[in-house]
Amino acid sequence: MRTEHALRVGDARDLVIPTESVDLVVTSPPYPMIEMWDDLFRDLDHEISEALDAGDGDRAFRAMHRVLDSVWSELDRVLREGGIACINVGDATRTVERTFQTYPNHVRITEAFRERGFVSLPGILWRKPTNSTAKFMGSGMVPTNAYPTLEHEHILVFRKGGPRSFEPHSSARYESAYFWEERNRWFSDLWTEIRGVDQRLASESRERSGAFPFELPYRLINMFSVYGDTVCDPFWGTGTTTLAAMVAGRDSVGYELDSELIEAFSDRLRDLPAFSREVLETRLDSHETFVERVGADELGYSATHYDFRVRTKQERDLRLYEITGVESTETGYSVEHHPFDADSRG
Ligand SMILES: C[S@@+](CC[C@H](N)C(=O)[O-])C[C@H]1O[C@@H](n2cnc3c(N)ncnc32)[C@H](O)[C@@H]1O
Repeated sequence: MRTEHALRVGDARDLVIPTESVDLVVTSPPYPMIEMWDDLFRDLDHEISEALDAGDGDRAFRAMHRVLDSVWSELDRVLREGGIACINVGDATRTVERTFQTYPNHVRITEAFRERGFVSLPGILWRKPTNSTAKFMGSGMVPTNAYPTLEHEHILVFRKGGPRSFEPHSSARYESAYFWEERNRWFSDLWTEIRGVDQRLASESRERSGAFPFELPYRLINMFSVYGDTVCDPFWGTGTTTLAAMVAGRDSVGYELDSELIEAFSDRLRDLPAFSREVLETRLDSHETFVERVGADELGYSATHYDFRVRTKQERDLRLYEITGVESTETGYSVEHHPFDADSRG
């Protein structure tokens, strides 16, 4: 199996991607009213500069979301019927002109997708494990002007139109199955075990990337797409979505304004076959731990491609593919995948 990954330096408000050619969007925009993104927003629309300079937080918030709205319209165009968009975003807390308030990005983005006719589906909250006590804001140990610290982010999930349909025994769909116990963790509405990543950048334009952890797009791609699908990230950053699409065996297309970030991506591909093997080994090891815990006799089915038991009929044809090679192409990268041989594990 071969997958193709296109990377484009450009503005996602104007995607050069064919209409209805994308099956899944996994992305994280610059978060309106989070200060690290002010300069980027100022460059994209001078009204944002004016509003920030005038100390008008509400006007800046509205103008920043109008920039994102243009990208959501493009996603509406490029997604196929039944395609899904997963948008990772955090709300912002900020003091502008002595007024501290929350700018509810997740609410505004949900409205934007609903206005475009998307169906809003149950979303996920995720937060990194943390135990710092130096993070609280406001009046400390005396009421009433202290505030909870926002440490969670939202993964908003929208679908274009009705549920996607597949041929009755679609092999792409059944090979793309995940384990029963993965379903129980991944389809929970609260993810607390995902570790953060180092966001420092060696770039001239920005100090931090705003990158999400690999596990986040990797789960979403496995949950909401099948082998052969195309995953799009219009706010590509350091390319975590493309990396996850490669390891999950899906095609991908990414858009990023900052060409330095796209150039730096080759560093992330250096040990890609070893990394893909590690991801798959971890999944299989954890399935084997599950089988040992519940007892193989308790599990009703034998996997078709592997020598282990699974809980449900839907998991029987599950098949994992490891990466065996990566080549540069005119538009990005082409990746070779082979069925993963579970017996060859170290
Ligand atoms: C929150 S970061 C994405 C981080 C990414 N998920 C990762 O793991 O590295 C948002 C990215 O979107 C890019 N961006 C912002 N506006 C854009 C636009 N209109 N078109 C394309 N890229 C844009 C920024 O340069 C930034 O790298």
